[in-house]
Amino acid sequence: MARFPAFSSAGAATPASIFARLREHLARFQASGGGDVIPLQIGDTYLPPAARLDEVTWTEMPPSELYAYGSPNGWAPLVDAIAAKAQRRNGIDAGAGGVQVTCGATHALSCAVAALLDPGDELILMTPYWPLIRGIALGRNVVPVEVPYGDAAALARAITPRTAGIYYATPNNPDGAMLDAGALAAVVDLAVQRDLWIFADEVYEDYVYDGAHLSAAALPGGAARTVTVFSFAKSFAQAGLRVGYALGPEPVIATIKKLVNHSVYNVPVAMQRAAHAALLADRSAFLDGALARYRAARDRARTRLAAPTTLPPGGAYLWLDLRPWSPDGDCMSLLERFAARGVLIAPGNAFGSTHGAFARLCFTGVPPDRLDEGIDRINAVLAG
Ligand SMILES: Cc1ncc(COP(=O)(O)O)c(C=O)c1O
Repeated sequence: MARFPAFSSAGAATPASIFARLREHLARFQASGGGDVIPLQIGDTYLPPAARLDEVTWTEMPPSELYAYGSPNGWAPLVDAIAAKAQRRNGIDAGAGGVQVTCGATHALSCAVAALLDPGDELILMTPYWPLIRGIALGRNVVPVEVPYGDAAALARAITPRTAGIYYATPNNPDGAMLDAGALAAVVDLAVQRDLWIFADEVYEDYVYDGAHLSAAALPGGAARTVTVFSFAKSFAQAGLRVGYALGPEPVIATIKKLVNHSVYNVPVAMQRAAHAALLADRSAFLDGALARYRAARDRARTRLAAPTTLPPGGAYLWLDLRPWSPDGDCMSLLERFAARGVLIAPGNAFGSTHGAFARLCFTGVPPDRLDEGIDRINAVLAG
């Protein structure tokens, strides 16, 4: 069958950046000499990383290891350190065969979905959800199905003969919600009863302010059917290095490894080396300090904001309820007015089909004075 000039259905279905429209307004703000831009839309940190590239002692590594192709599975010392961390911190008995190093958690989830789901399969997304998981599903012709976050009854009702997996993030992006032991056990029980895979996104495991982070793979019945993903972007402020990892049963990881092998071959060894340095560094030197700052930023931002939000027990975001300012159920024009004042936040419709009047604000991406300034600009629009 002739194809040119048509694209693949999966390529065409994959969504573009959610910020395109806001960037136009931002460009006008900058062109009019409006001042500096405050980026509260992206999930990042203003803190310096737990281990910097210029702190790593590269000379200890022979060039043959640093500049040659690496193992598609991951650099062995990092794989071993991750397996030890998984056991110690997450109660997941992965072993080296149950670890795959990836280009961030995005790549881990992309390869996991490709490894376990077929076109036409349904993937349940606990909603609101991290936007890229929907695109990852659509990019494989997998059908995303929205279910309210943590609602076990709705989850059970949503399962059809085509359901193949359940995805959730705990703590969640965008609203910081978390699944407690009971909620996780309900997910695992349903997955066991209905023969489903679990995609557990735990990249915010270290951003917990109230309660405790738990892993489905550590629960009875969970390990055999769960792929759990983590990221050095979040835990160690190394987003640009693009290092993450998946944990799972050995045959699943072996299949994910084939997909890593055929997508990037191996994650750059130099980046893995810097991730390794962060993982081995003293936790209290970085994570405890970061957590105290993020908690203070969460509380400060919530108190200052004129829009209602819940108090997120974890994560890096406030989930703004802009319904009072969005009579038609869509806050995009409001976000355009924020952008026209040089402050960006993320539109809720990227996080679920019924969240158009909500928006996500990241409280970890800029220092406290910039956060205050950004919120004041938002409040000025809301007051106007
Ligand atoms: C819930 C969630 N999962 C996965 C990712 C992707 O992480 P990475 O930067 O390691 O690809 C993010 C990034 O913001 C996220 O918020």
